[in-house]
Amino acid sequence: MRLLAIESTCDETAAALVEGDRSGIKALSNVVASSATLQAKYGGVVPEVAAREQIRSIVPVVEEAIGDTDLSSIDGIAVSYGPGLVGSLLVGIETAKALSWTWNKPLFKVDHMFGHVAANWIINRPLFTPPPLPSITLTISGGHTDIHLIDKNFNLKWIGGTLDDAVGEAFDKVARILDLPYPGGPSIQSVVEKYGDAKINKILPRPMIGDDSLRMSFSGLKAAVLRQTNSEIKYNKAEIAADFNKAVAEILKKKIKTAIEENKPKAVLIAGGVAANKMIRGVLQTIETETGVDIRLPDLKYCGDNAVMIGAAAILKPDKITHLRLKPESNLSLE
Ligand code: KG4
Ligand code: ZN
Repeated sequence: MRLLAIESTCDETAAALVEGDRSGIKALSNVVASSATLQAKYGGVVPEVAAREQIRSIVPVVEEAIGDTDLSSIDGIAVSYGPGLVGSLLVGIETAKALSWTWNKPLFKVDHMFGHVAANWIINRPLFTPPPLPSITLTISGGHTDIHLIDKNFNLKWIGGTLDDAVGEAFDKVARILDLPYPGGPSIQSVVEKYGDAKINKILPRPMIGDDSLRMSFSGLKAAVLRQTNSEIKYNKAEIAADFNKAVAEILKKKIKTAIEENKPKAVLIAGGVAANKMIRGVLQTIETETGVDIRLPDLKYCGDNAVMIGAAAILKPDKITHLRLKPESNLSLE
């Protein structure tokens, strides 16, 4: 199946042509326009600004993704319909509906968070094998930090996650406390890379790491960063940033190891913008040697928001809808 996929949940406008089946999905094109640099001057995403940028970018991005592909070779259109910012979502959804209507091709709706998970089915090496199922997923993004069971039919069941801030949100807020630019994840990572992993001091707590449940909490960690920056003992920005990144990696590792013990999955599928973090990738990969469970990570370009993952999700689990009825969902959960 070959699909045109559209993603417009937040500050990225993305379109892609994808082709494949449950054994793996190939990206034929992948176009992403981001308003992140524009948002940086406000220190975060301003929904109205994001929606306006979506309107400016959507047509050129879709045109570039299609290129000179013969329209008759496209079997349908996939679009993410939430969770996300309503103004941004409307742009992608209405575009997808219009194309489905005029081309007379089916429209598939995709939950954005399942899209992140589906990035693990994008073919990224010659001997690619699809992730074995049943498995567990760890989605770490700007708005979510969740662990799910995923069965052979791609149904997800929530088994754990954050009680407060999402990991990406904590990265963004800690960056703001440390006076580093938005988006916080990449800017914290570049400070940490310059600092180096070897000499990280344990400055911050690891909230709920000793708790045997799959619950997590990151708002206390963020508050601890704030206390350190105001404290008498002065650690520099890089020391705090590095230990924050390490604390997050250690907490995620502990929770995933607990989830593995309890659920005996075949693999752990990691997904979402924070899965691009170098230290987190490295720490989570050590679980494979320690437990023998396959640890899957999408390529860096498929961790953050993109449309290839949305097309992949629609191929794995097609959810065909009557296009005139599709509405944006700003607060969808996978449960
Ligand atoms: O998945 P995503 O692109 O959008 C959402 O669905 O939320 O995730 C965005 C989040 C932001 O909070 C951003 O700071 C974080 O992912 N992020 C990172 C890195 N790159 C992006 N966090 C840590 N390290 C990174 N390298
Ligand atoms: Zn996302």
